[in-house]
Amino acid sequence: MEFQTQRLRNARHVVVFSGAGLSAESGIATFRDALTGLWEHFDPAALATAQAFRNDPALVWSWYEWRRAKVFAAQPNAAHRAIATLARCIPRLTVVTQNVDDLLERAGCSDVLHLHGSLGSPRCFACARSYSFGADQPVEAQEGRRIEPPRCRHCNGKVRPGVVWFGESLPDDVWRKAVSAAKDCDVLLSVGTSALVQPAAEIPRMALQQGAQVVHINLQPEAVAGDREFSLTGRAAEVLPRLLEQAFG
Ligand code: OAD
Repeated sequence: MEFQTQRLRNARHVVVFSGAGLSAESGIATFRDALTGLWEHFDPAALATAQAFRNDPALVWSWYEWRRAKVFAAQPNAAHRAIATLARCIPRLTVVTQNVDDLLERAGCSDVLHLHGSLGSPRCFACARSYSFGADQPVEAQEGRRIEPPRCRHCNGKVRPGVVWFGESLPDDVWRKAVSAAKDCDVLLSVGTSALVQPAAEIPRMALQQGAQVVHINLQPEAVAGDREFSLTGRAAEVLPRLLEQAFG
C-alpha cells in the first residue's frame, strides 16, 4: 500500500528519526554500508568504547577529530533542509537523530534530540564537566595523525568526545523526550537508518505500537508489517523533498 501524503499534511505531531544515511549525501560516511561504512574500516571496540579511550586516548581523540573535521567541511543536504522546512508546515515536529554531526542544526532545525551525543560537545573523562572547543576549528585533524586530547580546565582530566560509546547509556533527558514524542506522534519518518542499534531502534517501533503511521526512507527497501508501515526506497535527499512537495507543494 502507498503512503497517503495527506497523512503528513494533516498530521498534528510528526517525528523524524534519522540515522547516518541522512548525512550520507553530505559526504559523511555511514557505519554499516558495504565498502563505505566506517565499521567496515575501523574496529568499534578500539575506537568507540570507554576502554579504548583508557588504552589509547590520543588514538580515539584523533579519530573523532578526523570525523569532526569531515563534518566541519561538509554542508547540509536537501534532506536536512526538507526536515527544517517540514517544521514550518505542521503544528509540531520533533527531530530525533542518532547522528553526532550538526548538519540538521545548520539546515535550520532547532531542539534536535541527539540520542548518541554530538561531536561538538566534548566533556571531561574524569569529572564530566563540559569542555568548549571555543574558536578551535578541527583544522589540524587529519586521518592517521595522533592528537592528544585537550585537558579539562577544572580538574586537568583528559577531555573525551561527547558521543555515546558502546556499553554506555543514552543521555537520560534526551531519551525520555524522544520516547514521549514517539508515543505522541501521528506520523514518524524514519530516515537513513539500519535500525540495528538499541535502544534507539525502539523509537519507530514505539510510534507504530502507539498507532502512528511509520514511513521508512532508505536506499534499501524495508520489510513492512501491517497497513500503517510504509517503505519509500531511494536517497533521502531525493525522497524527502519529493514527499514534502506532494504533501504541501
Ligand atoms: P548505519 O550505517 O547502520 O545505517 C545507515 C542506513 O542508511 C542504511 O540502512 C543505508 O541503507 C541507509 N542509507 C545510506 N545512504 C542513504 C541515503 N543517501 N539515503 C537514504 N538512506 C541511506 O547507520 P545508523 O543506522 O545511523 O552509534 O547506525 C546507528 C548507530 O550505529 C550510529 O548512531 C552509531 C553506530 O554504531 C554510535 O556510535 C553509538
